[in-house]
Amino acid sequence: MMNNIKTIKKIINDIKYFNPKKIDDIKKFKIKFLGKKQGIITSLINKLKYIPIYERKDIGMILNKLKNEVKEKIRKSYIKIQDLNINKFDTTIPGKSIEIGSIHPISIIKNKIIKILYSIGFCYVDGNEIEDDWHNFTALNIPVLHPSRDMQDTFFICKDPDLLLRTHTSSVQIRYMKKNNPPFKIFSIGKVYRNETVSSNSNYMFHQVEAFYVNKNVSFYNLKKTIEYIINLLFGKIKVRFRLSYFPFTEPSAEVDILYDNKWLEIMGCGIIDPKVLKNVNIDYDMYTGFALGLGIERLAMIIYKIKDIRIFFNNDICFLNQFTSVF
Ligand code: DAH
Repeated sequence: MMNNIKTIKKIINDIKYFNPKKIDDIKKFKIKFLGKKQGIITSLINKLKYIPIYERKDIGMILNKLKNEVKEKIRKSYIKIQDLNINKFDTTIPGKSIEIGSIHPISIIKNKIIKILYSIGFCYVDGNEIEDDWHNFTALNIPVLHPSRDMQDTFFICKDPDLLLRTHTSSVQIRYMKKNNPPFKIFSIGKVYRNETVSSNSNYMFHQVEAFYVNKNVSFYNLKKTIEYIINLLFGKIKVRFRLSYFPFTEPSAEVDILYDNKWLEIMGCGIIDPKVLKNVNIDYDMYTGFALGLGIERLAMIIYKIKDIRIFFNNDICFLNQFTSVF
């Protein structure tokens, strides 16, 4: 009994004066007293059965209390060590400067176009990258089996219901016009996807801008002036030509070329929104007309930065990306 009392006193002292400096000290303290095999308190508890019965209850209670005190000391010690570590953090030391990245060329062009379109009264709307057949094709006057569907080879998510990765941003026209009454002047920018063979000119994913304006008496003249304005802000004074073309959702349709480095380069498609499209979204096509235009951002960036291979935009090549400005 005397021996036990001595041990207990020692334990009480050890607990009281335990002052850990690091996590390791706490772990050792725990093993010393509560270790499963050799812990001092654990061993005493295991030996209780050999103590005369009249002493067993009191000593048992004391050991239990000590066990809880050790646990409490461990808990508090962990908090203390954490505080010590936090206080080691000197907020007056100047921070290390981190390298600021550059803006991706696609974002640079995108931001320029956004600024231009805002400046002439267009409002931005988001579109869906996952579309259904009706918004991406049918409502845009591209019925099933129409040959122009082949030009936009599609990644289907499932065939029934028809879910797909949008092949162009023109689907935003439908989404917006279905829910809003004219007049409106809208644009959207985003990723589009096509099941193309990847090469220096084509990728399975790229970015498009779509802009459209619907009002009373919107004419091809308005479209021409808008496009010339956009191009002049992007490229400076440059020659622009409109070539008659075909898109199922515009009538008439045109392709726009610019004379750049002595070559005519095609940069966008446009046209007067086909009345059938307006009808599909319940807009009175006797009262309203509209124009639409669509262009690929990679194509513009390739012309502006003289890039020969579209794949380089998404290779994550730091040497390439670092060449672009980091100023927003
Ligand atoms: N959606 C067409 C494409 O991806 C581009 C386009 C052409 C958009 C003419 C238009 C347009 O809004 O009027 O090839």
